[in-house]
Amino acid sequence: MSGKATCIATSNIAFVKYWGRIDEELRLPMNGSVSMNIDGALTTTTIAFDEALSEDSVTLQGHDLNPRQIERVTRQLDRVRERAGITLRARVETHNNFPMGAGVASSASGFAALTVAACAAAGLELSEKEMTILARQGSGSAARSIPAGFVAWHYGETSAASFAEQIAPPEHWDVRNLVAITQTTHKAVGSARGNQLVTTSPFNETRVVLAQRAFDVVCQAILDRDFTTLGEEAEREAVRLHVISMTSKPPIFYWQPATLRIIHAVQDWRQQGLECYFTIDAGANVQVLTLPQYAAQIETELAELDGVTRVIHNRVGHGAQLSDQHLF
Ligand code: DP6
Repeated sequence: MSGKATCIATSNIAFVKYWGRIDEELRLPMNGSVSMNIDGALTTTTIAFDEALSEDSVTLQGHDLNPRQIERVTRQLDRVRERAGITLRARVETHNNFPMGAGVASSASGFAALTVAACAAAGLELSEKEMTILARQGSGSAARSIPAGFVAWHYGETSAASFAEQIAPPEHWDVRNLVAITQTTHKAVGSARGNQLVTTSPFNETRVVLAQRAFDVVCQAILDRDFTTLGEEAEREAVRLHVISMTSKPPIFYWQPATLRIIHAVQDWRQQGLECYFTIDAGANVQVLTLPQYAAQIETELAELDGVTRVIHNRVGHGAQLSDQHLF
């Protein structure tokens, strides 16, 4: 057992979304989802198991987590400890290079980095597939930040069946992702809660059928490098996610005025021949998908829109990787 380990993981953006679970405890999704890792949104986490500690100590950006967040991290560490056969408590320091809770999936990179670093620090060697299953139990979307590039996370009725795997490596296709940050304050309703409310929407069953169909179409579009199909499917799926949220009980409205402004701008740019599509996670930020030849112009115009405070330009990212640049 090496004692201390550091992992760097990227966030990911889903073309077909994870929104709703058939099993809360195991975090088994209602449908398969597909994403690409985004190389500019990184979490770095260092973990050391230490016999001097009586409880897990966890900081994010140098600050203590709140009790609910600590409990969630501890539960994930417990899964690793149980597999590794150890009882030692851990010191965990983690750093994100992007704003949290505003639509860039910080739990994806966060739980991917936590899981990989904890396994390495505990001396637990898992296959990539097993690592995705373990990361999934911490946060669903984290399963997709373990493999590199374009990733599918499978629907499955058992824990073993619902794993994530690479569809294609980052070099396969230079898709660009422009995150338009419109709000940096923490959103009112976290995705963990939004995920639990889906069955209260009368449209959920329809969405699950359409999302599972989109899963196959999007996997094939990635293999074929068919950007129009990928983009059109991603837009439809993002709108479906928000239809479910807006019609759940209680309803959740993630969109802000700037969200709609960007949606309309994307439609205008497309009319002008700049091929791009929008997608939106559980927040107000819009992420624009485009190709290299259009990316610079769209990035400039996006940054000028009213309400956009920052644009992060991402390429397809690597998978979760160990590093020897420890945070402590
Ligand atoms: C809207 O993975 O954050 O980003 O499993 O409760 O941690 P938990 O949920 P989380 O949900 C992310 C949902 C989404 C869509 C997606 O990334 O697929």
